[in-house]
Amino acid sequence: MLLRKMTYSLDDVIKEAELEFKNAKDSASLENSKARFLGKNGLITTFFKQLASLSIDDKRQQGIIFNNAKKRIEQMLVEKREYLQKMELDARNSNELIDVTLPGRGKMIGSIHPIMRTQERIEKIFRSIGFKVIDGPEIETDWNNFTALNSPLGHPARSMQDTFYLDFKDHKNDLPLLLRTHTSPMQVRYATNNKPPIKIIAPGKTYRVDSDATHSPMFHQIEGLWISEEVSFADLKGIYTNFLKCFFENDNLSLRFRPSFFPFTEPSAEIDMMFNDGPNRGKWLEISGAGQVHPNVIKNFGLDPEKYMGFAFGSGLERLTMLRYGISDLRYFYENDLRFLQQIRY
Ligand code: PHE
Repeated sequence: MLLRKMTYSLDDVIKEAELEFKNAKDSASLENSKARFLGKNGLITTFFKQLASLSIDDKRQQGIIFNNAKKRIEQMLVEKREYLQKMELDARNSNELIDVTLPGRGKMIGSIHPIMRTQERIEKIFRSIGFKVIDGPEIETDWNNFTALNSPLGHPARSMQDTFYLDFKDHKNDLPLLLRTHTSPMQVRYATNNKPPIKIIAPGKTYRVDSDATHSPMFHQIEGLWISEEVSFADLKGIYTNFLKCFFENDNLSLRFRPSFFPFTEPSAEIDMMFNDGPNRGKWLEISGAGQVHPNVIKNFGLDPEKYMGFAFGSGLERLTMLRYGISDLRYFYENDLRFLQQIRY
């Protein structure tokens, strides 16, 4: 119900103001109502305008009445204003209320992925004996991944490492680029661009068409290469044995170098290890491929095989991590389940 006409009495206006202020739900609507009554063209103001036509005595008399009415309305306005402000403040305070009995919202502490942790441990161990850590691309040329490593096109050893080929070709020999099947191409990359002595490890991702509890299409290897004038298989044995003991923080383990075949090493070996204590005790576990670098490969590096020799190894980081922490299925590494990842913190 709105008052639109002057003919309403002052009491009506007061009642109307009272009602409207009472209904105001928030400060904004209250201030709007204020304008209707007390504003320049407000209802009370129009009463004052009538005074002009009255006699002096009537002016004084009516003036007092109008003023009292105005004061009433102002008073009601102030009361309601204070009330609303208090309500609004209370609402804000209760929104921001701190419940000290709630459990704390601690920040989750992230941790490094177990495979990365293994990689960093291995880097540290090999750095400490003078190896340089190098890095290279996961997309490789046919030459670096196969041919330079003594596996020419059509070589049967290639099919052991079938991979993912790209639609792009290597412009040098018109063969498709591929995802590297091992870290061994890093031998070629580094040795063709650096002079001996060469003493490197190259960790990183590798790819093969393979997927089960112990194989993932993407996995990690770490390549080792030491080339100089007099590095032999004996150095490989000493260094690798020492490495495993450091890595597992356990001197009580045995190694065996089982004759094997890789096109790029001769002789070649599969390195097996066995814990002599703990839950895995007494089982031989395959840990790495290795061997003396083949003279053809030394030649492909652009070096004289009569002068230079050395060894290489390639070890799986997943396998080393699984053994260190007793993990039975390699797929855990890639499911990103925090319940798994959070258990491995050192
Ligand atoms: N590249 C081999 C593989 O992935 C491992 C290896 C590296 C063997 C270096 C010998 C020397 O199976």
